[in-house]
Amino acid sequence: MIKSLRGMNDILNDEEYKRYTYFIQTATKVAKNYGFHFIETPILEETALFKRSVGESSDIVGKEMYQFTDKGGNDVCMRPEGTAGVVRAFIQNKLDRAGGVHRYFYHGAMFRYERPQKGRLRQFHQFGCESFGVASVYEDANMIMMVSDILKELGIGYRLQLNSLGDQNCMPQYRDALVSFIESVESEICEDCKRRKTTNPIRVLDCKNEQCQSLYANAPKLIDSLCEGCQSDFDTLKQILDDNEIAYETDTNLVRGLDYYSKTAFEFVSDNIGSQSAIAGGGRYDRLVEFLDGRATPAVGFAMGIERLLELIVMPQEKRSGYYLGAMDDAAVNFILKLAHQKRQTKKVTCEYKPKNLKNHLKGADKVHARFCCVIGSNELENNTIWIKDLEMKTEQTINIKDF
Ligand code: HAM
Repeated sequence: MIKSLRGMNDILNDEEYKRYTYFIQTATKVAKNYGFHFIETPILEETALFKRSVGESSDIVGKEMYQFTDKGGNDVCMRPEGTAGVVRAFIQNKLDRAGGVHRYFYHGAMFRYERPQKGRLRQFHQFGCESFGVASVYEDANMIMMVSDILKELGIGYRLQLNSLGDQNCMPQYRDALVSFIESVESEICEDCKRRKTTNPIRVLDCKNEQCQSLYANAPKLIDSLCEGCQSDFDTLKQILDDNEIAYETDTNLVRGLDYYSKTAFEFVSDNIGSQSAIAGGGRYDRLVEFLDGRATPAVGFAMGIERLLELIVMPQEKRSGYYLGAMDDAAVNFILKLAHQKRQTKKVTCEYKPKNLKNHLKGADKVHARFCCVIGSNELENNTIWIKDLEMKTEQTINIKDF
């Protein structure tokens, strides 16, 4: 038997599909309320796009890409994340040259060859937003408030972790200080961290190895080395979040797994879904557009992991809707079909063709979650009437067909 690939799942029941569409509808509504527009980019892109944006030193590019040569000999890759493609589209369509503010949201499948476990898939789905053209830290706050609004609407609790990764003024100095520190403990750190020291030193800070973690407790902190501009932006961001009653924790080890960030970095985590607890992550990436050959444009964004969120969504109680039409005997079947056809011009109607007794029709109406159960038997047919029960108000009546 041929099975799906490891870490790649089907969605095949109504309940899951309902949750998925409810999430997309809710997140889309919030994104539109914040002035974002839909964008869709291809799943396949040139591998170079991800190497240059997500970064050669990241685990994503180093170990996790679905990369292959296509029939035309092109080096291509199934997107591991959405930001790079949106930035490519932004530049390719010359929007960087148009100036102004451009805000986009997207959702779809992403691919990372990670070790599958609960909450960690090889094909997973993200909902993301990217904003171009606003350098103000108010836009960072806006993005965080958006995620918070989406989670609130879905009934999902969270902890928000916040950090500043500095910019080209303060980051190089910090990096040098960190490298000196790493060298002082180099004999005791893991092989991955030894490699990170040369590729991207700040990534050592989120190493999961316990011995490394205890050593890095004494490492210089990025947050203590911020330049005036980064420090002032970070303080303003925290003030805005305080003013809007959004709780956060500052996590000086939050460096994120992608290389394009500067200044604000954030992650939303849940304590209710096990070890893969990050439900959304994002930050500012002011250098990326320029780095991908566009005109320098400040930018900030986030993405949410849909599969992880689906586990946490509290679904609203579904309201009954529409009509269920049933016949009590053969003679009424043709009549209810005609009636259903008329009613369907404006209303949702479920029609049962098999004659049944009243009790079974009521059960059928309940099963399809109809608001009204409408039944016609020989009596009703003779008198030109229809029996209706309002399953929400629990009232029943017999009315003339012409009033139906
Ligand atoms: P990321 O933190 O790599 O950021 O991914 C965002 C979210 O996608 C994570 O918080 C997690 O919920 C979900 N996720 C990631 N990997 C997996 C996986 N293997 N299985 C299931 N869910 C997963 C980004 O992708 C950036 N592009 C976010 C961003 C947008 N930054 C700026 N703009």
